[in-house]
Amino acid sequence: MLHLWLFLLPCLSLVTLCPAEKGLEFPQYDGKDRVLDINGKNYKRALKKHSMLCLFYHEPIPDNKEQQKKHQMTELVLELVAQVMEEKDVGFGMVDALKDAKVAKKLGLEEEGSVYVFKADRVIEFDGLLSANTLVEFLLDLLDEPVEVLENSLELKAFDRMEADIRLVTNALTFPLPQQRPTLRKLRAEDMFETWEDDIEGVHIVAFAEEEDPDGYEFLEILKEVARENTHIPNLSIIWIDPDDFPLLIPHWEKTFKLDLFRPQIGVINVTDADSVWMEMEDEEDLPTPQELEDWIEDVLSGKVNTEDDDDDEEDEDEDDDEEEEDDEEEDENAEDDNEEEDDDEEEDDDDE
Ligand SMILES: *[C@@H]1O[C@H](CO)[C@@H](O)[C@H](O)[C@H]1NC(C)=O
Ligand SMILES: *[C@@H]1O[C@H](CO)[C@@H](O)[C@H](O)[C@H]1NC(C)=O
Repeated sequence: MLHLWLFLLPCLSLVTLCPAEKGLEFPQYDGKDRVLDINGKNYKRALKKHSMLCLFYHEPIPDNKEQQKKHQMTELVLELVAQVMEEKDVGFGMVDALKDAKVAKKLGLEEEGSVYVFKADRVIEFDGLLSANTLVEFLLDLLDEPVEVLENSLELKAFDRMEADIRLVTNALTFPLPQQRPTLRKLRAEDMFETWEDDIEGVHIVAFAEEEDPDGYEFLEILKEVARENTHIPNLSIIWIDPDDFPLLIPHWEKTFKLDLFRPQIGVINVTDADSVWMEMEDEEDLPTPQELEDWIEDVLSGKVNTEDDDDDEEDEDEDDDEEEEDDEEEDENAEDDNEEEDDDEEEDDDDE
């Protein structure tokens, strides 16, 4: 299995062999089987159990070794996607056109090689190229959109995306990278690890903005304006991430930073423990003005906004590897009322079976 996995590395642009900063680790395939072998006995349960079920309808597994290998690769792509989407309660399965013909008929699966997504009582077919990036992007869009507007527009988008995937490889620099860091730099797949590791005194200012989304675009314009006005500050370097470029990492980032990445965000991330604080915006319409953003950045640089002040109950989740943490306890009382919303995420996860 391992050598197959290594084959996939270049196409997934997700995994790395270089060590990343501890707090900003990137997810790798953990080897766990998540993709169900769908049959007459388990398909109903699978449909009921997940808010969205994603079934790959494939031709019968051939005898030929070469073809079998190809099938295994596809299975690995699905396993990786299943792992990435686990947080989002999306289930995955494979349906064999010969062995599971009856189930396929019941579910209305027709085109071999397509992925069928069951959401509420709708079925959406994905017949694009099966890459992990493309599929995750497609599924995230499905999760985000109300059921009615799905279908065509999304499929088209998936195709656009495929082209974008290819273009990404030869992406030109959006912002020149001279000796000194640019005030605003775009995170790119090719050198994301170098960028992450080039932190400034242990933190990064990170902005998420989808260039193709109107609010994301507007936010990016504000960012650029602020960046232009502040090129004289040597230790200011904002990393701009367009989530569209990293679909596989979106669920991971959303979980790590407790964020909604379907709207613009800007925050400070501590690279040691991935602790973060994010600028408050009511919703995607409530973008800061350039002046507000500049004030916030000033507060970050002066240390007034930092990742440490709100550390109270979050500490329980991490293993405490150093005893010195105890000293912080007095300060904690003051900060207590700042973050109460974040605690109810964990409880809903384990109600299966
Ligand atoms: C980052 O987190 C580490 C570990 O919690 C802490 O020791 C350090 O002071 C933090 N750095 C900043 C700049 O907040
Ligand atoms: C950035 O530079 C300013 C002034 O040069 C300094 O006061 C501030 O502490 C620095 N902040 C960081 C995070 O390095």
